[in-house]
Amino acid sequence: MSKKILLLGGAGYIGSHTAVELLNAGYEVVVVDNYSNSCEESLHRVEKITGKKLAGIYEANVCDKEALEKVFSEHKIDACIQFAGLKAVGESVQKPIEYYRNNIDSTLTLIETMKKFNVNNIIFSSSATVYGEENKVPYTEEMHRGRCTNPYGWTKFMLEQILQDAAFANKDLAVVLLRYFNPIGAHESGLIGEDPQGIPNNLMPYISQVAVGKREKLTIFGNDYPTPDGTCRRDYIHVVDLAKGHVKACDYIFGMKGVEIFNLGTGTPYSVTEIVTTFERVNNLKLNYVYGPRRAGDLAESYANSDKALKVLGWKTEKTLEDMCRDSWNWQKKNPNGYRK
Ligand code: UD1
Repeated sequence: MSKKILLLGGAGYIGSHTAVELLNAGYEVVVVDNYSNSCEESLHRVEKITGKKLAGIYEANVCDKEALEKVFSEHKIDACIQFAGLKAVGESVQKPIEYYRNNIDSTLTLIETMKKFNVNNIIFSSSATVYGEENKVPYTEEMHRGRCTNPYGWTKFMLEQILQDAAFANKDLAVVLLRYFNPIGAHESGLIGEDPQGIPNNLMPYISQVAVGKREKLTIFGNDYPTPDGTCRRDYIHVVDLAKGHVKACDYIFGMKGVEIFNLGTGTPYSVTEIVTTFERVNNLKLNYVYGPRRAGDLAESYANSDKALKVLGWKTEKTLEDMCRDSWNWQKKNPNGYRK
């Protein structure tokens, strides 16, 4: 019998790509999403790509206990992946209470509901942001969590702690914390991809919107960092590689108890300028860009040591930076307005 995985926030960018890879790997998938930053259309496209049906689609807020209980009473869930959460760094500084309320409450409600229905496996979307400002690159999982620079980052920090405490108290619980680096790219079909609302905060969606003519120019935030070309370096990871990391975590979680933490990155940093020039080269176009001042809160460098994921999960990234740039553009070109017509 195939195992059934519940994706909270499964219609979003990382959730939808993970749904595809889980279905391809033979898992059954149920999705809960309130579409606050996503569309149901992405789920129809997941079904189109895979030629398979999702076992259930529920429109609900993960903070809504009754709605979650309905899902758990209608499906025998084997493991949950918690993607649901607010994730805009700048907005989190303006609306901290909304971020703490939503991100913490939703995960607490999920853990309580799992307990009630005797579901003991949870994979949590964490972030490299928990390494904070003090740790040295490349980051390894046993480093202490550092001081975060914004409420979004603190919600990840706090939820990692909450899940660790829950696993300490309940020896039946298995928790996998996945620390994502910088996911970019899209499924190679161009049917699903990142669909930010309003002005994008993150680099790749901004570049794609400049390329498609929706934004006039990209500003590169700072070229006086202590890096080879002066611009910040990040560990960009193709979202399909990231999604496959979740499949490996699902395969693994049924044989463990306690907490395991994994970095999901490539281990190779690229600078902002390298991203821009690679995007231009592989897509054969010119981007309008200027160098501007630094953005508050940015680190010069952030990248993973992902040896543990290779050793324990047997996972490593397969896609190149060229693939990431080509697939991001393919999605944007085919869907200039995202999932909206
Ligand atoms: C940010 C968050 C991280 C979160 C991630 C989600 C922080 C400090 N960062 O990462 O927690 O998990 O988003 O994807 O909390 N850049 C430009 N011009 C732009 C936009 C970005 O030059 O218009 C540069 C930035 O300065 C940075 C790089 O591009 O050097 C990547 O930025 P971004 O995509 O926003 O990701 P991070 O800040 O690394």
